[in-house]
Amino acid sequence: MPETDLPVVLGFETSCDETGVGIVRGTELLADAVATSVDEHARFGGVVPEVASRAHLEAMVPTVHRALEAAGMTLADIDAIAVTAGPGLAGALLVGVAAAKAYALALDKPIYGVNHLAAHVAVDQLEHGPLPEPCLALLVSGGHSSLLLVPDVTSDIRPLGSTVDDAAGEAFDKVARVLGLGFPGGPLIDRAARGLVADGTQEAPGDKDAIAFPRGLTGPHDPPLDFSFSGLKTAVARWVEARERSGEPVPVKDVAASFQEAVVDVLTRKAIRACKESGVDHLLIGGGVAANSRLRALAEERATAVGIRVRVPRPKLCTDNGAMVAALGAEMVARGAHPSPLDLPADSSMLVTEVLV
Ligand code: KG4
Ligand code: ZN
Repeated sequence: MPETDLPVVLGFETSCDETGVGIVRGTELLADAVATSVDEHARFGGVVPEVASRAHLEAMVPTVHRALEAAGMTLADIDAIAVTAGPGLAGALLVGVAAAKAYALALDKPIYGVNHLAAHVAVDQLEHGPLPEPCLALLVSGGHSSLLLVPDVTSDIRPLGSTVDDAAGEAFDKVARVLGLGFPGGPLIDRAARGLVADGTQEAPGDKDAIAFPRGLTGPHDPPLDFSFSGLKTAVARWVEARERSGEPVPVKDVAASFQEAVVDVLTRKAIRACKESGVDHLLIGGGVAANSRLRALAEERATAVGIRVRVPRPKLCTDNGAMVAALGAEMVARGAHPSPLDLPADSSMLVTEVLV
């Protein structure tokens, strides 16, 4: 079928603080409209669920209109609806699921309630074409750090390892707070480590080898594919406190670079190990932390050295968005998956093994 005849899918994402509405036809991205409430959470140093839910409610309809406008379409052009059913913040998910049901009902189109983590994997199809099957996915975001074997992104996702405490993005956010950098912390640490200071001037980058922060769960008796970032976060906080007590200035760029290196060293090492153990030669990296410049560079370097190909979507598709949900929905449609019932629930703790409600 020519690409222009494929069904057009409207995707909704509201699992955290981004209201995302995307439009996808096949593996072609037609629109990716995102409204974020991140500024409203900044003074609390983390996402406040009730604030996020209210912001989704206010942003939803204008964001749908923006997406349609960007695609040059009207609602009459939509063939199917996809929505993040979970995991995520319960109240936030409910807004997206309710909106998606309303559009599905009003347009009399099928609805697909999909898993947020699977959508982070599927989005790469919009940039790099069909996913190799199987592929290995490293998903790193504010809520998750997981290694997944993905034989089929629409129906078969197998968890190989995950974090036992903080997610990687959470560690970035907490360390940024310790360093007084702001929220969300990931991009700010990334920039500080590269020597990009707040006003945009470029200084010398931070030294990633300045401080030897601990690498969690890398001992010989530790679970080889699980992660732990809480000890690292505490180690950074203790180091900074000791420095402040001594009256010496805190070398923010060096701390940022050394902390970031400790995270991405472990992430890439374990991801490559998982690829080797599963006999898979494609590593896909997704989720907000996949926007990290050092993670992208180190993954590429280490994977290439052992003949593994890395696929990472562009940063805007790594952080939460509606296009990723539409991308997974489009793949569901293409594979003839059975739509979800119109009374599908939002499931804040949806397991990654459940790809479609
Ligand atoms: O996937 P995402 O947008 O939302 C969740 O599902 O959590 O991920 C957000 C997380 C935040 O913790 C943020 O600090 C982190 O991704 N992040 C980054 C970068 N950009 C976003 N972490 C490290 N480096 C970045 N450049
Ligand atoms: Zn996410």
